[in-house]
Amino acid sequence: MHYEEFKKIVKRTYVVLSLFFGLLLIIAGGLVYEMLYPSFLITETDQDIVYEPIENLEVIGKNDIKNGIHEPTGFVDANGLEQVVINCTPCHSAKLVTQNRATREGWIGIIRWMQETQNLWDLGANEAVIVDYLATHYAPENKGRRELLNNIEWYDLKDK
Ligand code: HEC
Repeated sequence: MHYEEFKKIVKRTYVVLSLFFGLLLIIAGGLVYEMLYPSFLITETDQDIVYEPIENLEVIGKNDIKNGIHEPTGFVDANGLEQVVINCTPCHSAKLVTQNRATREGWIGIIRWMQETQNLWDLGANEAVIVDYLATHYAPENKGRRELLNNIEWYDLKDK
């Protein structure tokens, strides 16, 4: 074999091998990147997320209620708690609910607003239970400030 011919073959083999390993490196790099940042191939937007109420699930655990409060959410333990936890916590924090106060009509208004603009589902027969619960336990507080002090036994400050 001619020396020049041999050189050519070596060169060609070198190029092919370089391309092969180069490609392999790119694929391996891509795989590692996908492992580290799995979200980079996902093009899902927020609008694709469909919230659904959870049904047939034991939502209130035995040890969740402490001092009349459902600890995981902060809701008052009362009739309707389960329906409220199922229907009012999938989209936002329960705090958004418990920090609000409204009358019956007010709560219905908030629910209608969420149904019209935030994809809240039809609450069906649960609506009455939920509205009762909210209007009872998250009603407007009439006493905006503490009551005036009375029946206080004042004492004289003594001079030294
Ligand atoms: C499908 C999703 C969804 C569900 C389920 C849902 N909400 Fe909402 N709710 C929203 C969105 C979105 C907002 C606006 C959040 C924000 O402003 O950050 C909101 C806001 C609120 C607010 C604040 C309103 C205001 O004027 O600031 C209250 C109170 C509320 N929700 C109560 C409830 C109650 C009670 C339920 C159960 C009957 C419920 N939500 C269930 C989506 C939902």
